[in-house]
Amino acid sequence: MPRKRRWRWRNSPPFGARTEFTFFKPGPRHTPAVGPLLLRPHSTFAAAFKAKAGGQEALPCTVPGSEFLPRPALGYPESMQNGRDRLIVALDVASEEKARALVRRLGEGVSFYKVGKELFTAVGPALVRDLVAGGKKVFLDLKFHDIPNTVAGAVGSAASLGVSFLTVHASGGSKMLHAAAQAAAQSAARPTVLAVTVLTSLASGDLEEVGVSAGVEAQVLRLAGLAVNTGCGGIVASAQEAARLRHAFGSAFTLVTPGIRPAGGIAADQARVVTPEDAIRAGADYLVVGRPITAADDPCQAADAIIRQIDLSS
Ligand code: C5P
Repeated sequence: MPRKRRWRWRNSPPFGARTEFTFFKPGPRHTPAVGPLLLRPHSTFAAAFKAKAGGQEALPCTVPGSEFLPRPALGYPESMQNGRDRLIVALDVASEEKARALVRRLGEGVSFYKVGKELFTAVGPALVRDLVAGGKKVFLDLKFHDIPNTVAGAVGSAASLGVSFLTVHASGGSKMLHAAAQAAAQSAARPTVLAVTVLTSLASGDLEEVGVSAGVEAQVLRLAGLAVNTGCGGIVASAQEAARLRHAFGSAFTLVTPGIRPAGGIAADQARVVTPEDAIRAGADYLVVGRPITAADDPCQAADAIIRQIDLSS
């Protein structure tokens, strides 16, 4: 489903903290040029408007008191209206000091962090609790893969930390996925269980090595089917598979995509990389970004640039 809206709230960092919205309703002067684009997202409209209006920018209209108006109904949750809310920064560092320093430095610019095996193994759950208590959303990426009873217990423990997302390996099979989804649903916090399909560091040759001859895309779709059918709320895959996943399973699941690299970025150990713009356009809900931000000379600037790209592609 294309996401259509008549106006767009603009309180995300790239646009400043003011609450304002841009009316897309054209005057008679604009109608012939941009009429058919009225219900397109802001970025599409703005670009087309600019092109057709001889390079003139679409002007925002700030309405006094507009902060008291109800937000327009969008096709996705309230929490995802800004690019900032769709960026998950992977805190892949080895110590609590480094993690806290990074979170402090990124400040209000980043609202969602992924705590993975490196940091969690070094530091334990206290940091996760602190991030949650400090108002950040946390994706606990421990990729559980074990017998159903053990995974259900681990999911229950993760849920008690107040995390928003957690991961299990879809290759653990439908009984394990079902146990994970049940455990999350029975917890007070009810985190979203994301099933990891094929790691973004793997290509078809790597799958063959472990006895999977189906090819990456077929394997991702197969595992995503297991996840959706067992009640998992979301899927982790490369954005290279996003369009096929949306086509196969619609929009009733959360699609989280690691392997994100700004154009020209270094892939390092990632095999299936996609730019932020392409990932959003292909249907990703959330982008997981680690080294392009955490290893940047200026992590704040790197995060802002990605958030801007998400906003412009939404
Ligand atoms: O530094 P980079 O952006 O490559 O980090 C990606 C993060 O996403 C890492 O923390 C990695 O563990 C995680 N991840 C991934 N591929 C998956 C699932 C998680 O790269 N399929």
